[in-house]
Amino acid sequence: MKAVFRSEAMRNVLARLQRFAQSNATVLIEGESGTGKEILARAVHHFSLRPTQPWVDVSCAALPEHLVESELFGYEKGAFSGAQARKEGLFELAHGGTLFLDEIGELDGRMQVKLLRILDCGSYYRLGGTRKVEVNVRVVAATNRDLEKSVAAGEFRKDLYHRLAQLRISAPPLRERREDILPLADFFLGQCSVKSGFSFEAERCLEAYNWPGNVRELRNVVMSSAVISEGPVVEASALPAAIHAAGEERQRRAFAMAGDLSSLSAYAAGAIESSERQLILRVLDETHGHQEMAARILGISARTLSRRLKSYQVSEKAS
Ligand SMILES: Nc1ncnc2c1ncn2[C@@H]1O[C@H](COP(=O)(O)OP(=O)(O)OP(=O)(O)O)[C@@H](O)[C@H]1O
Ligand SMILES: [Mg+2]
Repeated sequence: MKAVFRSEAMRNVLARLQRFAQSNATVLIEGESGTGKEILARAVHHFSLRPTQPWVDVSCAALPEHLVESELFGYEKGAFSGAQARKEGLFELAHGGTLFLDEIGELDGRMQVKLLRILDCGSYYRLGGTRKVEVNVRVVAATNRDLEKSVAAGEFRKDLYHRLAQLRISAPPLRERREDILPLADFFLGQCSVKSGFSFEAERCLEAYNWPGNVRELRNVVMSSAVISEGPVVEASALPAAIHAAGEERQRRAFAMAGDLSSLSAYAAGAIESSERQLILRVLDETHGHQEMAARILGISARTLSRRLKSYQVSEKAS
């Protein structure tokens, strides 16, 4: 799985991740939905000291509550009705490698206790088992919840939170790293279509939009607009209305700002000229109209002073 990024924010995240990956400590990856937490988790394994060992991932949200335990820890034959043979749990399958516990915030209270125990002692019993299973597993967990809030609300055990968050990585939302938008869009377009790129206007829209669904939303938008757009490049008109509107709003603001700037500079030029004129007239008044003396006091040449005075006469006549 290729991770595409250009922003400083993501370069920092990756640098931190590579350092963390080299230890065996538990890593907690936090971030909004669609920010790429799974890719980061895989990167931890890739850069770890065990990249050729197993990588096992499981979503704690996708498993029905009653299956979480048997999936993670496995069971012995006859542990419950239907357990016709021994089954290894995911912890055993990940032995020597990395176990990725995705959506860890969804784990129920009873499983939180069990997980904490395994993380602390590295061994456990299969369901219905009497012999301890010893495992050497590096755990990486991810969540799009604010786990600190879940802890404060009593929904997530504080001790487990601290155990999981030995090292923390936070995946920044796409709107806080806009430099990544176009490289990601090009990457997704290259994956799904033969189009050569995006029109200038389409790029402006993609960059302006806030992407509440982050990289996942960007990927979906690129894929659908590549199909809708007819020409050799993806046009802005093929983008969803909200994204198109974001581009137009940015354009409007850019024009308004340019207008403000030019009127500000006209105002500044006028203000400088009028205060210069007041100063010159005042010095001339003090020197009783003696231009050479006035020029010396003002620190300008007599010729410049006379040119200035001429231009004032012209503008006075014009006004
Ligand atoms: N830097 C990236 N480079 C390439 N693809 C990316 C990148 N970041 C995210 N993606 C892609 O965007 C999609 C969403 O990423 P991912 O599944 O990792 O999000 P997530 O943070 O786990 O979201 P959720 O909390 O909803 O599970 C995936 O298809 C992933 O491959
Ligand atoms: Mg995910």
